[in-house]
Amino acid sequence: MQKLIVEGGKRLRGEIRLQGSKNSSLPIIAAALLSRGECVLRNCPELSDVYAASRILNCLGTKCSFSENTAVIDSSSLNGSEIPEELMREMRSSIIFMGAMLGRTGECTVSVPGGCELGPRPIDMHLAAIRKMGVDVRDSGGRIVCRALNGRAKGAKLSLAFPSVGATENVILCAVTAEGETVINNAAREPEICDLCGFLRKCGADISGDGESRIIINGKQQLHGCEYTIMPDRIAGATYLSMAAAAGGEIILTNACVQEMEPFLTVLEQTGCSIYTNSDRIYLRCGARLKAPPDRIRTMPHPGFPTDAQAVLMSALTLAEGTSVFEENIFDCRYRHADALVKMGADIQVMGKIAVVRGVQRLHGASAEATDLRGGAAMLCAALAAEGVSEISRIYHIDRGYEKIEEAVAGLGGKAVRSG
Ligand code: EPZ
Repeated sequence: MQKLIVEGGKRLRGEIRLQGSKNSSLPIIAAALLSRGECVLRNCPELSDVYAASRILNCLGTKCSFSENTAVIDSSSLNGSEIPEELMREMRSSIIFMGAMLGRTGECTVSVPGGCELGPRPIDMHLAAIRKMGVDVRDSGGRIVCRALNGRAKGAKLSLAFPSVGATENVILCAVTAEGETVINNAAREPEICDLCGFLRKCGADISGDGESRIIINGKQQLHGCEYTIMPDRIAGATYLSMAAAAGGEIILTNACVQEMEPFLTVLEQTGCSIYTNSDRIYLRCGARLKAPPDRIRTMPHPGFPTDAQAVLMSALTLAEGTSVFEENIFDCRYRHADALVKMGADIQVMGKIAVVRGVQRLHGASAEATDLRGGAAMLCAALAAEGVSEISRIYHIDRGYEKIEEAVAGLGGKAVRSG
C-alpha cells in the first residue's frame, strides 16, 4: 500500500495552478450521459474518482477517453442502465448516475453507495424527489430499481428537506429531459451546482436560478453534445493555502476561483494571514504565527464555510496562538483526522460536532493512516508543518481528490515522496 514520506518544518514558497474541481467533474461526467452527441470536458482533473466515473460510463456502453486533462465522452452508443454493485461502491458519488440514467433512458438499477468515512450517506432525499417525478423506485435484493412511468419522468414542484448537493444534482439530471417544469426549492447553492448547470445549458438544457435556493428547469426532449471547461477546485485551493498557513511562507495559486473561495478566505484572513487576490490568482503570505479566529468555525451549506475545508484548516490552526472552535454541521463523523494530528503533538478535544483546538508551539513528525479524503489532506498539511519526518499511509484516499499530490507539494517548495 502506497504512502507519503513527508519532510516537514520548512516554510513553503512557490506557485501552483489549481486543478479542475473533483466535485464538479463527477456530476458533469454523469451528465454527459444525457447528451446524444460528443462532450469534450477541459480542465478535467486526473483523479481516481474521475477514473471510477469513466468506468461506470464504459459499463453503460459509453465511450470515454482522457488525455492532458481533457475528457472526450460519446454517449451515442449507450446500451445499458444498470450499474454493478462493485462500481457503485467504488465511489460514494456514483449515486449521481441515477438521475443521469433516468434523464436519458427513463430507467436505472443502482445500489446504495458506500458510507462509512464521514458517517452514513443516506439517499432518502434523492429517492423521495425522483418518486415525486413519477419514477417508481423499489428495492430488489439490495438493488434499487427505478422506472419512470410511461418511460419519461414528469416535472414536479419539490422542496428538499436539506440543501443536499447530491440530491439537487440528481433532480437536475432527471429534470432536464422530463416532461414539463420542475421547481426545486431549498436547492443546494454550491458553485459546483452552477458548473453542472452551465454544462447542461451548453447541451441545450433550460435551467435558471442555479446558485440560489430555487432552481427552475423546463424539460427538453433531448440534449446535444458540447465543449465545456470545468471550474477550478475550490477545496484543493483551500488545502494548498492551509499548507502554507500551517508551515508558514508565501505561495501563489493560479487558475483559482476567487469568488467561490470567499467563505474560506474570509476565515483564513482572520487568522492573520495576508491574502491578496486578483482575477484568478491568490497570493498568500504567512509571516508570523497564526491567531485563532475570534468566532466559532461553523460548517454550513454554501455560501457558508465549506465542510470539505474543515479538516485542512484545523491542521493549520493546531499551531495558532489561542483556541479555535469548530462546529461540524454537515456530516456526523468528520473529525477522524483529529487523532493523527494529536499524534503529531496537536491539542484537540472532540465532543460530538464540536472540536476545540488549543494552539501548540510545534508539531513533530509521526506515522499516520489517512482516514478519508480531506482528513488525509489535513494530515499532509500538518506533516509539512511538523518538525521531522512523517509517514502517511492509505494515501489512496488523498489520490481520490488531489491530482499528483506530491508534485503539487513540490511546486510549493515542500517535500513529500511517494513510496511502496
Ligand atoms: C457533496 O457530497 C460532496 N461530494 C462532498 O464532498 C461535500 O462534503 C458535500 O456535498 C457537502 O458539501 C461531491 O460533490 C462528489 P450532501 P453529498 O448530499 O452530495 C445528508 C469531498 O470531500 N443527506 O449535501 O453526498 C448527508 O448524509 C466530499 O469532496 C441525507 O441525510 O453531500 C450529509 O450529512 C465529501 N439524505 C448532508 O445531508 C440524503 O438523501 C449533506 O450531504 C442526502 C444527504
